[in-house]
Amino acid sequence: MTDKALPSLVDPKVVFRARGVSKSYHMGAVEVVALRDVDLDLYAGELVVLLGPSGSGKSTLLNILGGLDVPTKGTVRYRDHDLSAFDDAALTQYRRDHIGFVFQFYNLIPSLTARENVALVTEIAQHPMTPEEALRLVSLGERLDHFPAQMSGGEQQRVAIARAIAKRPDVLLCDEPTGALDAQTGILVLEAIDRINRELGTTTAVITHNAIISEMADRVILLSGGRIVDIRRNAKKTAARELAW
Ligand SMILES: Nc1ncnc2c1ncn2[C@@H]1O[C@H](COP(=O)(O)OP(=O)(O)OP(=O)(O)O)[C@@H](O)[C@H]1O
Ligand SMILES: [Mg+2]
Repeated sequence: MTDKALPSLVDPKVVFRARGVSKSYHMGAVEVVALRDVDLDLYAGELVVLLGPSGSGKSTLLNILGGLDVPTKGTVRYRDHDLSAFDDAALTQYRRDHIGFVFQFYNLIPSLTARENVALVTEIAQHPMTPEEALRLVSLGERLDHFPAQMSGGEQQRVAIARAIAKRPDVLLCDEPTGALDAQTGILVLEAIDRINRELGTTTAVITHNAIISEMADRVILLSGGRIVDIRRNAKKTAARELAW
């Protein structure tokens, strides 16, 4: 029997299903609890914003979903895969095949142009777009041959987004993507993320400290003390370009 003939046991609308996820770190004799018994589903194509005070567990949760970290307790399913059962090699493969990451700092290679930074990823991906296509999606079609030092912070972050999405990942995870940027530049970066979510249907999670950014989300997930304390759905989603702070 081929895989195709098997009925899927998993709802195709559910991309992530986390159940009873806890994470603690041991610092010598001290135990730091980063996540406590988190249950969360993320749905295909949605854009969620994760809000919460510093230390509330936002990055830990995102890193666990993205396979950069593993829970101490509980299970995380990505589509029909049980991530909790993956070893390091399987997690690396999972990240490579399915996840795009964007962090606060852009981590571009200074000696490579925008196009070459993106090409580093497209050369090893299975069904990538071209670096030019990816850079056009983030409105940097005119900056292909610029080096990072010749670009603004917001432009560099958009190169980092192009690099993250050029392999057409199923999921885009962004940890404070506008944390180092002023409002005007931050909005251009959010517009790029918004566009990728809408045009490519990439399931997207964005961590921020800025509550205004939550207006662009389908759902807003609020963390406090390692727990999810609220999940609300926005009645109306605001386009990133209409945000102001
Ligand atoms: N590698 C680690 N080793 C030890 N403790 C850690 C580690 N990573 C996170 N923690 C602790 O876990 C808790 C949650 O951290 P996390 O980074 O997830 O918070 P956050 O909500 O992303 O905060 P911020 O908004 O400041 O980025 C914090 O108390 C933090 O100190
Ligand atoms: Mg964090």
